[in-house]
Amino acid sequence: MCGIVGYVGPRDATPIILNGLKRLEYRGYDSAGVAVVKGDQIEVRRDAGKLGQLIDLVAKEPLSGAPGIGHTRWATHGAPSARNAHPHVSNSGKIVVVHNGIVENFIELKDELVSEGTTFSSETDTETIVHLAEHHQAAGANFVETARKTFQQIEGANVVVLLSTAEPDKIVTARIGNAGGVVIGLGDGENFIASDIPAILEHTRKVIFLESRQMAIVTRDSVRIETLEGKEVKPEIHIISWDAVAAEKGEYRHFMQKEIHEQVRALTDTLAGRVDFKEGRIRLPELNLTPELAKRIQRIYITACGTAAYAGMVGKYLIEKIARIPVEVVIASEFRYSDPILDSNTVVLAISQSGETADTLAAMEEGRRKGAIVWSIVNAIGSQAMRVADGFISMQTGPEIGVASTKAFTAPLVDQYMLAILLADLRGTLDEKTRKSLVSDLRLVPDLVGRTLDRESEVEKVAHVLKDIRDCLYLGRGINMPIAYEGALKLKEISYIHAEGYPAGEMKHGPIALIDEEMPVLCIAPKDPWHEKMISQIQQAKARDGIVIAVATEGDELIKGMADHILWVPEAPWMLSPIVTVLPLQLLAYHIAAIRGLDVDQPRNLAKSVTVE
Ligand code: AGP
Repeated sequence: MCGIVGYVGPRDATPIILNGLKRLEYRGYDSAGVAVVKGDQIEVRRDAGKLGQLIDLVAKEPLSGAPGIGHTRWATHGAPSARNAHPHVSNSGKIVVVHNGIVENFIELKDELVSEGTTFSSETDTETIVHLAEHHQAAGANFVETARKTFQQIEGANVVVLLSTAEPDKIVTARIGNAGGVVIGLGDGENFIASDIPAILEHTRKVIFLESRQMAIVTRDSVRIETLEGKEVKPEIHIISWDAVAAEKGEYRHFMQKEIHEQVRALTDTLAGRVDFKEGRIRLPELNLTPELAKRIQRIYITACGTAAYAGMVGKYLIEKIARIPVEVVIASEFRYSDPILDSNTVVLAISQSGETADTLAAMEEGRRKGAIVWSIVNAIGSQAMRVADGFISMQTGPEIGVASTKAFTAPLVDQYMLAILLADLRGTLDEKTRKSLVSDLRLVPDLVGRTLDRESEVEKVAHVLKDIRDCLYLGRGINMPIAYEGALKLKEISYIHAEGYPAGEMKHGPIALIDEEMPVLCIAPKDPWHEKMISQIQQAKARDGIVIAVATEGDELIKGMADHILWVPEAPWMLSPIVTVLPLQLLAYHIAAIRGLDVDQPRNLAKSVTVE
């Protein structure tokens, strides 16, 4: 996960930035860099690898000055390398940028800049930002106007930090869309910028959090907050009373809430270095998947536990629809004892956040024993499920602390979508137009997630309505049926309310007898191929006086006139819709549990990783 640290003040920025980046190492990264303004020059040191390599580089080639900015990076576009590492400098050497997120329209912006003669030295989308800024500065805009114009042209969920030798007394930063956080630390005659509180806590406890579509002009003794349109905003100053460990919760009450909101950055990171948007291709090098191997796969078993298994149920729809390979999802605790029929043309794909779940590891062992190809999708780097697999996909979400899994549910949805495209591409069963369209849709993910999470306050209101319920039915169909199971599990495991996920089409075969004015029914009904079916499901529940809470696509007037409460989500390509429909259910379970005063991060009887049978 990318980390950002900036400093403006009388001290040398370099040690402050390097120490701050060290405090963000828990987020995972594959390259790092630092830049400082020195007179009318910008000096940069950057390298692939861990922070230790950057510190060694700075020791060999000292770098001092201020203001300065630093960055740790998950490669989003372009492999992790020195030339792709941030910070990136403009061709004149007068402007430098660090960035978190995905510039959705970078191809169009880059093509325009190249047509005007701008040369690029990296494969990153980030470099487009600094050349765009240079273009505006060269046209006569002052630095703040240069930054504003640049921010206004960037689409998608991004955090951007710029320095310029033209006005070396300031740093300008912006949060565009619901990208990861931007914290401004207020010092005495000096100020700080960071992507997370731990990076600056040793210097100050007074902070300002940037909101979406806000920018900040930061000098050593002033901070001005504006909207991207230039309207001044009066900032709210927060005093951080937490200790360093608690500070990792940032502005959130619980790790689970933080991790729900981290999904914008986590999904950006799980796309990291794997998507070639220009060519419309996917790269999953750790899977060791060759065209020969791809062509001989005849069946895929997805095996996992709990939330991970529900992610696999969504994966079934994706892989069967895109790659046309038969997929069976089997709960790991059953798979290991089911004497499965496997051979060398069968894949056993395990999904596990911890990579240490006993049932899942045993299922992988069963696959190995019977000669299957064993893959895993894992979050914990270096865990058993990652090590024993023939190939793996790292979720790259950073550590998940809350026992209730959130970002480690949505990340494998994206990973399986990418896997399906790669399989189809290598098997030659996907035409180029379809493949490019499917890949292009991935650019939408961070912003769709951010826009859905922006509606948290609406979900919290519904949580207050439902806080005392004793039962709840979650209904879904098609690719969103697993979201019914996952939403019910979230509510069960942190609020201790009995909740049941059910295929909506099955209700008339018995469970509909449960519905009355006491039974809330949560219907997942986005604009997907099963939308009409869900409409009639809602009508059936209402006809029996059920209380209906619908997850619906923004603008769906039909459902608006039928449901008692609505949890709105933005319109999304149907194969990516589970990524957004699960978010209000995560938030609903979180807020009901928080309102009930329960231990959200450590629910009773549960462990983060079930390493025993
Ligand atoms: C999810 O919220 C639960 N904590 C649980 O179902 C979890 O998904 C399951 O135990 C699997 O864990 P893993 O992903 O680490 O293998």
